[in-house]
Amino acid sequence: MRESGLGCQAAPVNREQLSRLAHTDHPIKAPLDDEAVRRLLGHSLPRGDARVLDLGCGGAEWLLRALTLYPELHAEGVDISGDDLEQARRTALGLGVQDRLVLHQQEAAGFSSPHLFDLVLCVGATHAFGGLLPTLAAARKHLAPDGRVLIGEGFWAGEHSREAVEMLGDLSDLATTVDRVVAEGWTPVHGHVSTRRELDDYEWACWGSLASWALDHPAHPDTAQVLGTADTRRSEWLHVYRDTFGFVCLVLRQTSG
Ligand SMILES: C[S@@+](CC[C@H](N)C(=O)[O-])C[C@H]1O[C@@H](n2cnc3c(N)ncnc32)[C@H](O)[C@@H]1O
Repeated sequence: MRESGLGCQAAPVNREQLSRLAHTDHPIKAPLDDEAVRRLLGHSLPRGDARVLDLGCGGAEWLLRALTLYPELHAEGVDISGDDLEQARRTALGLGVQDRLVLHQQEAAGFSSPHLFDLVLCVGATHAFGGLLPTLAAARKHLAPDGRVLIGEGFWAGEHSREAVEMLGDLSDLATTVDRVVAEGWTPVHGHVSTRRELDDYEWACWGSLASWALDHPAHPDTAQVLGTADTRRSEWLHVYRDTFGFVCLVLRQTSG
Protein backbone atom coordinates (compact mmCIF):
# COMPACT_ATOMS: atom_id res chain seq x y z
CA MET A 1 0.00 0.00 0.00
CA ARG A 2 1.38 3.44 -0.88
CA GLU A 3 1.69 6.03 1.88
CA SER A 4 -1.15 8.50 2.12
CA GLY A 5 1.12 11.48 2.66
CA LEU A 6 -0.87 12.46 5.73
CA GLY A 7 0.97 10.16 8.10
CA CYS A 8 0.42 10.95 11.77
CA GLN A 9 0.96 14.70 11.39
CA ALA A 10 -1.82 17.01 12.45
CA ALA A 11 -1.50 19.26 9.37
CA PRO A 12 -4.83 20.35 7.86
CA VAL A 13 -6.15 18.08 5.12
CA ASN A 14 -6.40 20.08 1.92
CA ARG A 15 -8.13 19.15 -1.35
CA GLU A 16 -5.03 17.65 -2.97
CA GLN A 17 -4.34 15.54 0.11
CA LEU A 18 -7.94 14.33 0.20
CA SER A 19 -7.63 13.24 -3.43
CA ARG A 20 -4.30 11.51 -2.82
CA LEU A 21 -5.70 9.77 0.25
CA ALA A 22 -8.82 8.65 -1.64
CA HIS A 23 -6.58 7.02 -4.26
CA THR A 24 -4.31 5.18 -1.82
CA ASP A 25 -5.60 1.78 -2.97
CA HIS A 26 -6.44 2.80 -6.54
CA PRO A 27 -3.55 4.90 -7.89
CA ILE A 28 -5.09 4.98 -11.39
CA LYS A 29 -7.58 7.80 -10.87
CA ALA A 30 -10.21 6.28 -13.13
CA PRO A 31 -12.44 3.20 -12.99
CA LEU A 32 -10.12 0.70 -14.68
CA ASP A 33 -8.46 -2.39 -13.28
CA ASP A 34 -4.77 -3.18 -13.75
CA GLU A 35 -5.37 -5.64 -16.58
CA ALA A 36 -7.48 -3.13 -18.54
CA VAL A 37 -4.72 -0.52 -18.15
CA ARG A 38 -2.10 -3.00 -19.36
CA ARG A 39 -4.17 -4.01 -22.40
CA LEU A 40 -4.96 -0.40 -23.32
CA LEU A 41 -1.26 0.49 -23.15
CA GLY A 42 -0.47 -2.53 -25.32
CA HIS A 43 -2.95 -1.38 -27.98
CA SER A 44 -1.70 2.20 -27.79
CA LEU A 45 2.03 1.55 -28.05
CA PRO A 46 2.97 -0.26 -31.25
CA ARG A 47 6.64 0.73 -30.67
CA GLY A 48 8.57 0.07 -27.47
CA ASP A 49 10.73 3.19 -27.94
CA ALA A 50 7.76 5.56 -28.17
CA ARG A 51 7.59 9.09 -26.77
CA VAL A 52 4.44 9.47 -24.64
CA LEU A 53 2.62 12.52 -23.25
CA ASP A 54 -0.04 12.40 -20.52
CA LEU A 55 -2.19 15.54 -20.17
CA GLY A 56 -3.69 15.62 -16.64
CA CYS A 57 -1.43 12.78 -15.53
CA GLY A 58 -2.12 12.96 -11.77
CA GLY A 59 0.41 10.67 -10.09
CA ALA A 60 1.55 9.57 -13.58
CA GLU A 61 0.44 5.98 -12.99
CA TRP A 62 -0.24 5.36 -16.69
CA LEU A 63 3.22 6.64 -17.59
CA LEU A 64 4.95 4.74 -14.78
CA ARG A 65 3.36 1.50 -15.96
CA ALA A 66 4.29 2.20 -19.58
CA LEU A 67 7.88 3.05 -18.58
CA THR A 68 8.11 -0.17 -16.58
CA LEU A 69 6.68 -2.27 -19.43
CA TYR A 70 8.84 -0.68 -22.15
CA PRO A 71 12.50 0.03 -21.17
CA GLU A 72 13.14 2.26 -24.20
CA LEU A 73 10.07 4.44 -23.79
CA HIS A 74 10.28 8.14 -22.80
CA ALA A 75 7.40 9.94 -21.13
CA GLU A 76 6.23 13.40 -20.14
CA GLY A 77 3.36 14.23 -17.81
CA VAL A 78 1.49 17.49 -17.25
CA ASP A 79 -0.66 18.30 -14.21
CA ILE A 80 -1.50 21.26 -12.01
CA SER A 81 -1.17 19.25 -8.80
CA GLY A 82 2.26 19.64 -7.20
CA ASP A 83 1.41 16.91 -4.67
CA ASP A 84 0.56 14.39 -7.39
CA LEU A 85 3.70 15.20 -9.38
CA GLU A 86 5.86 14.91 -6.28
CA GLN A 87 4.38 11.49 -5.61
CA ALA A 88 5.04 10.55 -9.27
CA ARG A 89 8.70 11.59 -8.87
CA ARG A 90 9.10 9.48 -5.75
CA THR A 91 7.48 6.43 -7.37
CA ALA A 92 9.58 6.85 -10.54
CA LEU A 93 12.72 6.90 -8.39
CA GLY A 94 11.64 3.72 -6.61
CA LEU A 95 11.00 2.03 -9.95
CA GLY A 96 14.29 3.27 -11.43
CA VAL A 97 12.56 4.98 -14.39
CA GLN A 98 13.16 8.61 -13.31
CA ASP A 99 15.64 9.33 -16.12
CA ARG A 100 12.95 8.65 -18.74
CA LEU A 101 10.19 10.71 -17.12
CA VAL A 102 9.76 14.51 -17.34
CA LEU A 103 6.99 16.14 -15.31
CA HIS A 104 5.54 19.61 -15.86
CA GLN A 105 3.45 21.40 -13.24
CA GLN A 106 1.15 23.61 -15.31
CA GLU A 107 -2.22 23.93 -17.04
CA ALA A 108 -2.49 21.17 -19.62
CA ALA A 109 -4.15 23.50 -22.15
CA GLY A 110 -1.10 25.79 -22.14
CA PHE A 111 1.48 23.03 -22.49
CA SER A 112 3.80 23.21 -25.47
CA SER A 113 6.77 21.05 -26.38
CA PRO A 114 9.49 20.95 -29.04
CA HIS A 115 8.64 17.23 -29.45
CA LEU A 116 5.79 15.43 -31.13
CA PHE A 117 4.52 12.33 -29.31
CA ASP A 118 3.70 8.81 -30.51
CA LEU A 119 0.99 8.55 -27.87
CA VAL A 120 -1.00 11.30 -26.15
CA LEU A 121 -3.06 10.24 -23.13
CA CYS A 122 -5.83 12.10 -21.38
CA VAL A 123 -7.83 9.90 -19.01
CA GLY A 124 -10.43 11.44 -16.71
CA ALA A 125 -9.07 14.94 -17.32
CA THR A 126 -10.95 16.27 -20.37
CA HIS A 127 -12.41 18.99 -18.11
CA ALA A 128 -8.92 20.56 -18.26
CA PHE A 129 -9.66 21.47 -21.91
CA GLY A 130 -13.41 22.13 -21.60
CA GLY A 131 -14.59 18.71 -22.79
CA LEU A 132 -13.96 15.78 -25.08
CA LEU A 133 -13.62 17.47 -28.48
CA PRO A 134 -11.40 20.38 -27.32
CA THR A 135 -9.19 17.75 -25.66
CA LEU A 136 -8.84 15.86 -28.93
CA ALA A 137 -8.05 19.10 -30.78
CA ALA A 138 -5.28 19.82 -28.25
CA ALA A 139 -3.96 16.25 -28.43
CA ARG A 140 -3.78 16.45 -32.22
CA LYS A 141 -1.29 19.34 -31.98
CA HIS A 142 1.09 17.16 -29.94
CA LEU A 143 0.75 14.05 -32.08
CA ALA A 144 3.44 12.61 -34.36
CA PRO A 145 2.34 11.31 -37.78
CA ASP A 146 0.78 7.87 -37.19
CA GLY A 147 0.55 8.64 -33.46
CA ARG A 148 -2.29 7.47 -31.23
CA VAL A 149 -4.48 9.09 -28.62
CA LEU A 150 -5.74 7.25 -25.55
CA ILE A 151 -8.67 9.16 -24.13
CA GLY A 152 -10.86 8.23 -21.16
CA GLU A 153 -14.25 9.90 -20.79
CA GLY A 154 -17.49 9.41 -18.90
CA PHE A 155 -20.81 8.72 -20.61
CA TRP A 156 -24.44 8.23 -19.62
CA ALA A 157 -25.33 4.57 -19.50
CA GLY A 158 -29.01 5.24 -18.71
CA GLU A 159 -31.58 7.80 -17.62
CA HIS A 160 -29.86 10.51 -15.59
CA SER A 161 -31.13 13.24 -13.29
CA ARG A 162 -30.37 16.96 -13.40
CA GLU A 163 -28.42 16.39 -10.16
CA ALA A 164 -26.20 13.84 -11.96
CA VAL A 165 -25.50 16.33 -14.76
CA GLU A 166 -24.62 19.03 -12.22
CA MET A 167 -22.25 16.58 -10.54
CA LEU A 168 -20.57 14.95 -13.54
CA GLY A 169 -21.09 17.36 -16.41
CA ASP A 170 -22.96 17.33 -19.69
CA LEU A 171 -22.07 13.88 -21.05
CA SER A 172 -23.49 11.92 -24.00
CA ASP A 173 -24.44 8.27 -24.29
CA LEU A 174 -21.74 5.85 -25.44
CA ALA A 175 -22.78 5.63 -29.10
CA THR A 176 -23.09 9.41 -29.41
CA THR A 177 -19.73 9.89 -27.68
CA VAL A 178 -18.01 7.65 -30.23
CA ASP A 179 -19.96 9.24 -33.13
CA ARG A 180 -18.74 12.69 -32.06
CA VAL A 181 -15.15 11.48 -31.95
CA VAL A 182 -15.40 9.88 -35.40
CA ALA A 183 -17.01 13.03 -36.85
CA GLU A 184 -13.91 14.99 -35.71
CA GLY A 185 -11.63 12.84 -37.89
CA TRP A 186 -10.62 10.06 -35.51
CA THR A 187 -10.89 6.30 -35.93
CA PRO A 188 -11.17 4.12 -32.82
CA VAL A 189 -8.77 1.17 -33.15
CA HIS A 190 -9.43 -0.20 -29.66
CA GLY A 191 -11.62 0.59 -26.70
CA HIS A 192 -12.54 -0.45 -23.21
CA VAL A 193 -15.87 0.15 -21.48
CA SER A 194 -15.43 -0.08 -17.72
CA THR A 195 -17.35 -2.96 -16.22
CA ARG A 196 -19.76 -2.58 -13.33
CA ARG A 197 -17.11 -4.24 -11.20
CA GLU A 198 -14.42 -1.70 -12.23
CA LEU A 199 -16.81 1.20 -11.62
CA ASP A 200 -17.85 -0.14 -8.21
CA ASP A 201 -14.29 -1.09 -7.19
CA TYR A 202 -13.13 2.45 -7.94
CA GLU A 203 -15.81 4.13 -5.85
CA TRP A 204 -15.43 1.71 -2.92
CA ALA A 205 -11.65 2.19 -3.03
CA CYS A 206 -11.89 6.00 -2.98
CA TRP A 207 -14.50 6.49 -0.27
CA GLY A 208 -13.35 3.43 1.69
CA SER A 209 -9.76 4.74 1.83
CA LEU A 210 -10.95 8.11 3.10
CA ALA A 211 -13.21 6.54 5.72
CA SER A 212 -10.49 4.13 6.86
CA TRP A 213 -8.00 6.95 7.31
CA ALA A 214 -10.51 8.89 9.43
CA LEU A 215 -11.25 5.86 11.62
CA ASP A 216 -7.51 5.18 12.01
CA HIS A 217 -6.77 8.79 13.04
CA PRO A 218 -9.49 9.65 15.59
CA ALA A 219 -7.39 12.39 17.23
CA HIS A 220 -6.57 14.29 14.02
CA PRO A 221 -8.33 17.69 13.93
CA ASP A 222 -9.71 16.97 10.42
CA THR A 223 -11.05 13.47 11.11
CA ALA A 224 -14.69 14.58 11.16
CA GLN A 225 -14.23 16.48 7.88
CA VAL A 226 -12.59 13.51 6.15
CA LEU A 227 -15.23 11.05 7.39
CA GLY A 228 -17.97 13.50 6.35
CA THR A 229 -16.48 13.77 2.85
CA ALA A 230 -16.32 9.97 2.54
CA ASP A 231 -19.97 9.66 3.65
CA THR A 232 -21.18 12.40 1.32
CA ARG A 233 -19.32 11.13 -1.74
CA ARG A 234 -20.35 7.50 -1.17
CA SER A 235 -23.96 8.60 -0.77
CA GLU A 236 -23.86 10.78 -3.92
CA TRP A 237 -22.48 7.84 -5.90
CA LEU A 238 -25.13 5.41 -4.64
CA HIS A 239 -28.09 7.81 -4.83
CA VAL A 240 -27.25 9.95 -7.85
CA TYR A 241 -25.06 8.26 -10.46
CA ARG A 242 -24.21 4.59 -9.79
CA ASP A 243 -26.88 3.34 -12.20
CA THR A 244 -26.29 5.86 -14.93
CA PHE A 245 -22.56 6.69 -15.16
CA GLY A 246 -20.27 4.78 -17.51
CA PHE A 247 -16.64 5.25 -18.50
CA VAL A 248 -14.96 4.49 -21.82
CA CYS A 249 -11.33 4.55 -22.94
CA LEU A 250 -10.72 4.86 -26.68
CA VAL A 251 -7.49 4.30 -28.58
CA LEU A 252 -7.69 6.62 -31.59
CA ARG A 253 -5.80 7.17 -34.80
CA GLN A 254 -6.32 10.11 -37.12
CA THR A 255 -8.63 9.06 -39.95
CA SER A 256 -6.56 11.06 -42.43
CA GLY A 257 -3.18 12.74 -41.95
C1 LIG B 1 -9.32 12.13 -12.39
S1 LIG B 1 -7.63 12.65 -12.34
C2 LIG B 1 -6.93 11.60 -13.58
C3 LIG B 1 -5.43 11.40 -13.41
C4 LIG B 1 -4.78 10.42 -14.39
N1 LIG B 1 -5.07 10.73 -15.78
C5 LIG B 1 -5.19 8.98 -14.09
O1 LIG B 1 -5.97 8.40 -14.89
O2 LIG B 1 -4.72 8.42 -13.08
C6 LIG B 1 -7.68 14.24 -13.17
C7 LIG B 1 -6.36 14.98 -13.12
O3 LIG B 1 -6.47 16.15 -13.92
C8 LIG B 1 -5.70 17.17 -13.28
N2 LIG B 1 -6.15 18.46 -13.79
C9 LIG B 1 -7.34 19.08 -13.57
N3 LIG B 1 -7.38 20.26 -14.22
C10 LIG B 1 -6.18 20.38 -14.87
C11 LIG B 1 -5.63 21.39 -15.72
N4 LIG B 1 -6.31 22.49 -16.02
N5 LIG B 1 -4.39 21.18 -16.23
C12 LIG B 1 -3.68 20.06 -15.91
N6 LIG B 1 -4.15 19.09 -15.10
C13 LIG B 1 -5.41 19.24 -14.60
C14 LIG B 1 -5.96 16.96 -11.81
O4 LIG B 1 -4.97 17.59 -11.00
C15 LIG B 1 -5.93 15.43 -11.73
O5 LIG B 1 -4.65 14.97 -11.44
